[in-house]
Amino acid sequence: MDEAIRVEDSGAVRKITLNRPAKKNAITLAMYAALNTALAEAARDDRTSVVLLSAVGDAFSAGNDIGDFLRASTGGLTDSASARSSGIFLRTIASFPKPLVAAVNGLAIGIGATMLLHCDLVLASSVATFQFPFTKLALVPEAASSVLLPARVGLQRASEWLLLGERIDAETALRSGFLNAVVPPEALASAAAARVEALTRLPLGALCETKRLIREPLRAAVDAALERELQAFAARLASPEAAAAFSAFLARGERGERDKRGERAT
Ligand code: COA
Repeated sequence: MDEAIRVEDSGAVRKITLNRPAKKNAITLAMYAALNTALAEAARDDRTSVVLLSAVGDAFSAGNDIGDFLRASTGGLTDSASARSSGIFLRTIASFPKPLVAAVNGLAIGIGATMLLHCDLVLASSVATFQFPFTKLALVPEAASSVLLPARVGLQRASEWLLLGERIDAETALRSGFLNAVVPPEALASAAAARVEALTRLPLGALCETKRLIREPLRAAVDAALERELQAFAARLASPEAAAAFSAFLARGERGERDKRGERAT
């Protein structure tokens, strides 16, 4: 089965894998909906104690699908339930009650990077890079990153990362407190499996309570930030600046296709 979100259960572990490698695991609205279901089931199911998030291919995730952004920006999203799935994902991952481990194999951009702020352990390959390119797309940060990133890496560094949107290498991200560990690419899967396995050996009730106690002091601030950012984000999505940025990115691909076919741009 070729699913863009792969869900596998093995003992107490639910593994959720982003599986759209041809598009660098850019996340579509349908993928958010699948992620929401996978996380909600994992939260409910007593048999699951840990969730591992990982990805297929050379990227972790290139962020939100820019085609979906363009459709949202130009009023082309007619299915409102589907349009809401990204906001639901943010609230779901922000309040996920069980340990969440991420194994970041490559590029983590936009939501691909901000979702990591909601993971309890984040391991990355040494070739992984991180980027918050919101301003480049005429957008603003999401996933409560305007609150959580400064809390994680400090206000000055978060300002630089969120305002300039430049790429950050794995060692810098590790030194900044954004990651738990950086390992060689070939060791990522086993390192993540070892952390997950260590978690599954501990009492689930104590893990969930510990996570709750760690996250609780920022809970109200995170919830407020999510709502504030979603409003600002929706307003930015509707701006002509954003529509132009999305169209420019998508035109890049079309130009590439024409070049491959040897056609000249008109
Ligand atoms: N949304 C939709 N499609 C995306 C995408 C995204 N966020 N990111 C990559 N893709 C697609 C590309 O359009 C391309 O599709 P095509 O082969 O049909 O043309 C394919 O994935 C491979 O990407 P490509 O750009 O050819 O690979 P690359 O190695 O040169 O660059 C990235 C990879 C991720 C650096 C580049 O694609 C990129 O900058 N993506 C946008 C990231 C972004 O701004 N995300 C939104 C954050 S808010």
